[in-house]
Amino acid sequence: MSPGPEGFTLGQASLPMRLMTTLFLLCVALGFVSAQINLMERVGREDGVPGPPSLRDVQWHFAGNPRQSRLARAISPGGVMAMHISGEERAEVLGWIEGGAPEDIYRARMLPIFESRCLGCHATADGVRMPILGDFDQIRPVTQPGQAMTVAQLALVTHQHALSIPVFLVLLGTALWLTHAATGIKVIGMVLPLLGTMIDLSCWWLTALVSPAWAVGVFAGGVMMGLGLIPLLTVPLWEMWLRRG
Ligand code: HEC
Repeated sequence: MSPGPEGFTLGQASLPMRLMTTLFLLCVALGFVSAQINLMERVGREDGVPGPPSLRDVQWHFAGNPRQSRLARAISPGGVMAMHISGEERAEVLGWIEGGAPEDIYRARMLPIFESRCLGCHATADGVRMPILGDFDQIRPVTQPGQAMTVAQLALVTHQHALSIPVFLVLLGTALWLTHAATGIKVIGMVLPLLGTMIDLSCWWLTALVSPAWAVGVFAGGVMMGLGLIPLLTVPLWEMWLRRG
């Protein structure tokens, strides 16, 4: 048993504090479930087989998909941009990509499609994950299979995760700290997920820029996060509502 500072534990907290902490834990649990669904939709489908991400899915996601270009994958049925394009136009764009994406056909046939369907969002350089479809030089890389994530894309997704995940992990960790859980359990909840986050994010870069073999580190980081979340999400709830004192 190792209660928090000066013997105070979450179970002794007033009702508003326990309600706030409980709702926070539930929000994080909801976020975690949504993150898993997002992973299945975004990364899990990378090799065309839906379901939880495989090692190959993760490798292709960061180091480049050798079968399909980003543009083809995005507009194909099930892709993230599929809803923006009709069947006929889709076939035309896919045919153009398969034919090596020549510039003359881009100007004559593709640009009008992109102008009416895509450029409302894809015209400016605001978001680095968004290819700029109105400029042939910018669109070329997204028509080629096997393109690894660029430093700009990696930096975008990394900062979004690195600056948000630790914030909720430290809040959850503080709640776990204020319980009677054994030191070993506290280490699993308070240290493992932050370490896992660092390993996960570092291995995105290593997988994309050094070797696809680093994708195992992405899995290892995910497992550390999942293991840590078990005590983080359960022990404080048990302590606040069942154990008390
Ligand atoms: C309503 C705004 C909007 C429209 C319209 C739109 N896109 Fe996008 N597109 C986005 C956003 C936002 C992203 C980046 C976030 C994401 O990956 O979902 C994106 C990402 C992409 C990507 C990159 C996907 C990846 O895997 O990195 C491609 C390729 C793409 N769009 C192609 C298209 C094409 C082609 C069209 C037209 C048929 C289109 N988009 C229409 C907003 C839009």
